[in-house]
Amino acid sequence: MSEAVNSEENQEEISRRPGQIFFDKGGEIPDPYDVPLEEINMVHPRMFQENKIWGYFERLRKEDPVHLNEHEVTGRFWSLTKYDDIKAVDSNHELFSSAHGITIGLPVDAELPEGALNLSMFIAMDQPKHDVQRATVSPIVAPMSLKKLEPIIRERVCNILDSLPLDEEFNWVDKVSIELTTQMLATLFDFPFEERRKLTRWSDVATAAPGTGIVESEEARRAELLECLTYFTELWQQRKVNPGHDLVSMLAHGENTRDMEPFEFLGNLILLIVGGNDTTRNSISGGVLALNEYPDQYQKLREDVSVIPNMVAEIIRWQTPLAYMRRTANEDTMLGGKQIRKNDQLLMWYVSGNRDEEKFDNANKLIIDRANARQHLSFGFGLHRCMGNRLAEMQLRVLWEEIMQRFDKVEVVGEPERSFSSFVRGYTSLPVRLHAK
Ligand code: HEM
Repeated sequence: MSEAVNSEENQEEISRRPGQIFFDKGGEIPDPYDVPLEEINMVHPRMFQENKIWGYFERLRKEDPVHLNEHEVTGRFWSLTKYDDIKAVDSNHELFSSAHGITIGLPVDAELPEGALNLSMFIAMDQPKHDVQRATVSPIVAPMSLKKLEPIIRERVCNILDSLPLDEEFNWVDKVSIELTTQMLATLFDFPFEERRKLTRWSDVATAAPGTGIVESEEARRAELLECLTYFTELWQQRKVNPGHDLVSMLAHGENTRDMEPFEFLGNLILLIVGGNDTTRNSISGGVLALNEYPDQYQKLREDVSVIPNMVAEIIRWQTPLAYMRRTANEDTMLGGKQIRKNDQLLMWYVSGNRDEEKFDNANKLIIDRANARQHLSFGFGLHRCMGNRLAEMQLRVLWEEIMQRFDKVEVVGEPERSFSSFVRGYTSLPVRLHAK
């Protein structure tokens, strides 16, 4: 995710450019129809933080579903906002490469900025290397492995839920969403349990924009990620000698991963940490928020909890924890009547495809028994389709089963605070109060 590490800086850079309406730091974000179409640029973290994206995406879907932006920092990049276009690009890995990065970044031939880490990970690789590395770690999420994990996850869910205060305000993100996903990650890596919040920290550091409260600079980020590498190298050495059924042991012994370069090892660790962390975390928070926004759906759930597996898919559609993935064109091609050039970047805005009315009726609404909820784009499609999707669904299912055993309502009692990112769509705070059954 080298571009992920750097791209937020590019976004900052973009946001400083004059002449781009609302890309100033402080101004009010205008009505989407007051902005000339060609100036709309969705790579804008503050728009996501203020939750002002929906009208813009709706306009792009209607008026310009394959939308071009060009900027001196990034070069040409396209925003795809319709369900079918996104699926078509995501499914065509021969024409659209992942190897130049999966978030918006510098043009293909540009040099990385000084101080930036060049991490390598299989989400940002093409065949054949992608396939062998993925195959090495994917047994951890095979059906047998998930079966073994389910009781452990249930036990941890119960412990967390039973420790929560009743009738008292607290931050759901911190006490439940982060805690639960971090515990699960610690289990997957067999990471020292009492130090598990290090995993949360490294995940945050890997995805946050420097200067936005998490890390101060690119150098500070580099230093922390190198700490992560040192820590895991130690674990790697232990597992070389004493392997277990965990991700570090799998990487240390896998035929195709055991000789990885340090930054490749770090890159794949960050992929697994971020992949398993931010996404599930924000689906846990998003579900609570969505059920509060649509009380008729909460009531439906109380009346029939057998809807939970379908509801989980619908929550993941509604939340779309990763707003987009990037591809880069290997060749000149046409898409939606537009001429895509070799090396152009394409941003597949899953968050918009998931609200495409031609695919999902009443798409902005959470409908927990929606018949086609499972066809959402949130896990991507094709070769890179999320490796952890079953694990994420299992966690959310177990969580909601246990919530419904205990509480009549997880009530949202204040405004959520959203992440400053146009890539990870999430929450930093969600004040709630629990009401017992
Ligand atoms: C609701 C939760 C999750 C969401 C929304 C999500 C979303 C995604 C998306 C959009 C992709 C890229 C798909 C593409 O490019 O076509 C992806 C890939 C990936 N995810 Fe997830 N993810 C989630 C949970 C997890 C978990 C729990 C893990 C932990 C094992 C995980 C590990 C991965 C990995 C390793 C990849 C790279 C797959 C590849 O390149 O072949 N994800 N995920």
